[in-house]
Amino acid sequence: MKPLSIGIILGSTRQGRLSPQVGNWVKEMADRRGDANYEIVDIADFKLPFLGEGTGEEPGLLAWPEKLSSLDGFVFIVQEYNHSITGALKNALDSARDEWNNKAAGIVSYGSTGGARAAEHLRGILGELLVADVRAYPTFSMFTDFENFQTFKPAELHVDKLNIMLDQVIAWGGALKTLR
Ligand SMILES: Cc1cc2nc3c(=O)[nH]c(=O)nc-3n(C[C@H](O)[C@H](O)[C@H](O)COP(=O)(O)O)c2cc1C
Repeated sequence: MKPLSIGIILGSTRQGRLSPQVGNWVKEMADRRGDANYEIVDIADFKLPFLGEGTGEEPGLLAWPEKLSSLDGFVFIVQEYNHSITGALKNALDSARDEWNNKAAGIVSYGSTGGARAAEHLRGILGELLVADVRAYPTFSMFTDFENFQTFKPAELHVDKLNIMLDQVIAWGGALKTLR
């Protein structure tokens, strides 16, 4: 069977964001497994207008669902903003529909309490988009996994949790492919 394609979606777009560091680490760990094609998908690259505010012809707006169509599953890199996900990620989720359906997802979150509140909000949204989010999710603390709140230095214990999460994404991603 063709290996699954899994997009590692960076949820933040602000200047100075930490999500590329977290996403790159997740990709590095995931690539070691050799069980799927993992790629970073940076929402910022698509320059998505707020839903309904653009012309509808923006290249990024057309490219976004195309990119999602090419993927069998997702790992969301989620940061906590005011106890929820970023506006940019919510807009990106809203900016496609069928392309999300019947796919698996894992969540990696960070924040002062590991980003858990944002991750739980995301789960509610994913249900509506028919994305099957798996149970295991690594949660990184701003206090202990980022040096000076800036440089990502994850504690070793997170590697096992990440691999459990990826095992589940690959298993469900393969199963759900049969529905599409
Ligand atoms: C607008 C805003 C709101 C935030 N709210 C929270 C919060 O409610 N809880 C929390 O743990 N961290 C909060 N933070 C801290 C972020 O989790 C932290 O800055 C993180 O690095 C943001 O991810 P990013 O660097 O990828 O943008 C907030 C940060 C911003 C910019």
